[in-house]
This record gives sequence, structure tokens and C-alpha cells, in this order.
Amino acid sequence: MKMNFIKVKDYNALSVHAAEIICAQVNSKPNSVLGLATGSTPIGAYEQIREMYKRGEVDFSAVKTINLDEYVGLSPENAQSYRYFMNNQLFNGINIAKENTHLPDGMSNTVDDECARYERLIDSLGPIDLQLLGIGNNGHIGFNEPGDFFIKECHCTQLAAKTIEANSRFFDTIDEVPKKAITVGMGTVMAAKKVLLIAAGKEKAEIINKALTGKITPQVPASILQFHADLTVVVSP
Ligand code: F6R
Repeated sequence: MKMNFIKVKDYNALSVHAAEIICAQVNSKPNSVLGLATGSTPIGAYEQIREMYKRGEVDFSAVKTINLDEYVGLSPENAQSYRYFMNNQLFNGINIAKENTHLPDGMSNTVDDECARYERLIDSLGPIDLQLLGIGNNGHIGFNEPGDFFIKECHCTQLAAKTIEANSRFFDTIDEVPKKAITVGMGTVMAAKKVLLIAAGKEKAEIINKALTGKITPQVPASILQFHADLTVVVSP
């Protein structure tokens, strides 16, 4: 079990460090499968990756990506959807073919079928070489919310009240925040060859500490990462 814990001085340093780890992965294996996250935390890293690409330091032409999650009911054109986020924050700024980028389809009429399709897709592309993760204030990873058990496969989840509240900052009103999301399961995260967890800000310090040093329990979903064989954690104040 290897846990590499890196504390850097600020958000910019966290972003540079995370981007360097991701680009080093791509440079060492040009056809890497990257597991990607949305949210505020990786925005700086994605910006750094776009810069590194512009400087000719990395080539994404053979890379495939699998995102963690998508809101149910939001189309790719909706500015709050994770597909829209990924296109804007990363994919449009690097040389990755859109057909090599994957997110669950939040507009599918049959959510269970969509979860099964995404799980099959992960099976066919995976295992993920490097999985990037943020962490929710309640310890969620992807949208694996605290509960009585870990769920292995892709599933539709009811977002926790705390998550809806936290994510309402991106919406005009809290009522607009979708109540459900499709997320990869813990099996996908744990099967990734390497995991890179990033967390910024003092409000994340407590949950990071609890997840990495506390009891391993589905009540703190990220705590399962203590079992991962190759985990790097980068945190900033
Ligand atoms: C995003 C995701 C979530 C976020 C988490 C932290 O795809 O799966 O688990 O990583 O909610 O979000 P931020 O970075 O906005 O604090």
C-alpha cells in the first residue's frame, strides 16, 4: 500500500502539481485511459494542462477519458452539465478527439440502461491508468454518497442534501440543482492503477484527515482509498 501525501503552498501549486502528474502519465503511456473529475478543485489543473499542451509538452491524440459522473436531466448544452464543463475546461483546449471522451448521458430516458452501458464501456476501456478525484465535504467521491454500503458499479444516486447545497453555488437557485446523478461505482475507482486525490481549502482539511486516517467506512466513502495500492494526495490550504 503506497500513499504519497503532498502538501503544497497554495491552489496554484496544487494545480501545477496535479497537471504535471497527469501529463507525466500521458507522456509515459500515450494511450492512457484517464479517469476525470469535475467540480471547482480541478479547474486550475485543467488550465495548467491546456497550457502544457500549448507549449507542446503533451499529446492527447491517443488518450481516452472516462468521467466520474453526470447530473440526470442536464443536456450537454446545459452550462451546468458536466459534459459542458469538461468540453470548456479541458477537451476544447487540447488535442483529444471528442469520441475518446466519455461521460454518462444525463438525458437518457432509461437511467438503468445508461448505467449498464457506462459500466460496459468502462470494462471495455479500463482499467483506468490514472483516476483524478476531488472529495465532497461529506467524503463523497464521484457521487458515491455516504451510506450503509459501498456500491461497486455505475449507478444512479440521490444526491445528499449537503451535496445539493454545496453544488447550488453553480446554479441560480438551489431548486435548479438536479437531485439525481449517474456515477461510476467504487469498483471502478479502486480498479484504477493510480489514484490522484486533490483537495484545496481549509474547509476540506477535516474531511481529508477523516478519510485518510479515520475508520474505513461507507459513511465516509473516500476512506476506502486507504486500501488503494497507489494513492497520491495533493492538498493546499
Ligand atoms: C465531480 C465529482 C465530485 C467532486 C466533489 C468536490 O466530478 O465527482 O465528487 O469532486 O464534489 O467538488 P469540488 O471540487 O467542487 O469541491
